Amino acid sequence: MTLEIKKAAEILRQDGLVAFPTETVYGLGARLSETAIRRIFAAKGRPFDNPLIVHIAEPNQLNRLSSDMPSFANALMAAFWPGPLTLVLKRSNAVPAIVSAGLPSIAVRMPNHPIALSLLQEFGEPIAAPSANRSGRPSPTCIQHVQAELGKQVDFILDGGPCTVGLESTVISLIDNPCILRPGAIGIDVIQSVIGHVVESSYSRGAALSSPGMKHAHYVPRLTLVLVEPRQWQTVLEKQILSGKRLGMISLKAVLPFRGENVVYEKVMTDLAHYAQNLFAAFYEAEAAGVETLLIEIVPREGLGVAIMDRLERAAAGASG
Ligand code: TXA
Ligand code: MG
Repeated sequence: MTLEIKKAAEILRQDGLVAFPTETVYGLGARLSETAIRRIFAAKGRPFDNPLIVHIAEPNQLNRLSSDMPSFANALMAAFWPGPLTLVLKRSNAVPAIVSAGLPSIAVRMPNHPIALSLLQEFGEPIAAPSANRSGRPSPTCIQHVQAELGKQVDFILDGGPCTVGLESTVISLIDNPCILRPGAIGIDVIQSVIGHVVESSYSRGAALSSPGMKHAHYVPRLTLVLVEPRQWQTVLEKQILSGKRLGMISLKAVLPFRGENVVYEKVMTDLAHYAQNLFAAFYEAEAAGVETLLIEIVPREGLGVAIMDRLERAAAGASG
């Protein structure tokens, strides 16, 4: 791995793109130069108004990225870094505006993954990295899905096997009162236990304005998605089987009453952590299995369930079949 890390760092120095594993999902990394950042937007087909997250190897690297450090930031870093929490802070003028899609803020996190941290240390500078998918698609959690999405658009991929968390980091803005812009692996209750009251506004207009990326389609698989209440499995299945479409099922601990012949993909999640870890991978697997309609069980909005439901609802809102 050492040689590969060195090679990856060299590619980054030449404005190349390197996909690398983090604990959440795979990132598509580039250095903070205008040329390299433009390549990220092009490779993903990402709208230029959707800002990127910058990854760092240690909290000290923040000094060059942000000119202002609210006291909440120190408490959150101490509690959750390295880990799946992204802080939105004031951007320093030293950072090219294109990284933040022109916003005066910057999103930063220190990932908790040995390969990501080795790469960041070897490279010695911050690395901008959105999730390594085409814009609007589910985030990849293994290199097969990075390859399927980006193909030759990425210069090098570091393989860390499947990601352990599976959903993206929680994004919290500290520009005003602390405000969750994207629910993620770290729950709002845990954050509140560290810094007190936090506003949760991922769906509000305010969040759309302060985080422009939120308005775009997200996590959308190429199939029709039907969200199913646990009690409704039998009814939904009976109806869907009559449609004659190739079906897929993702359920939580459910012992299913029966399967039709047209169920071509089935995945049982054992608990919420397993659900989060495998959700995006299951979208890609269902597509590969030729599923036309994917039936997927909704979960209680508690703990990780908040982030899972956020992804399911966004995916369903964008999916058109
Ligand atoms: O777990 C993760 O966060 C992964 C891994 C690779 O670190 N990265 C990731 O990046 O999910 P991306 O680009 O797919 O999502 C970044 C999110 C978007 O919703 C974007 O709008 C928001 O963070 N964001 C980035 N910079 C922002 C800023 N300055 N102000 C508000 N929101 C920002
Ligand atoms: Mg993304």
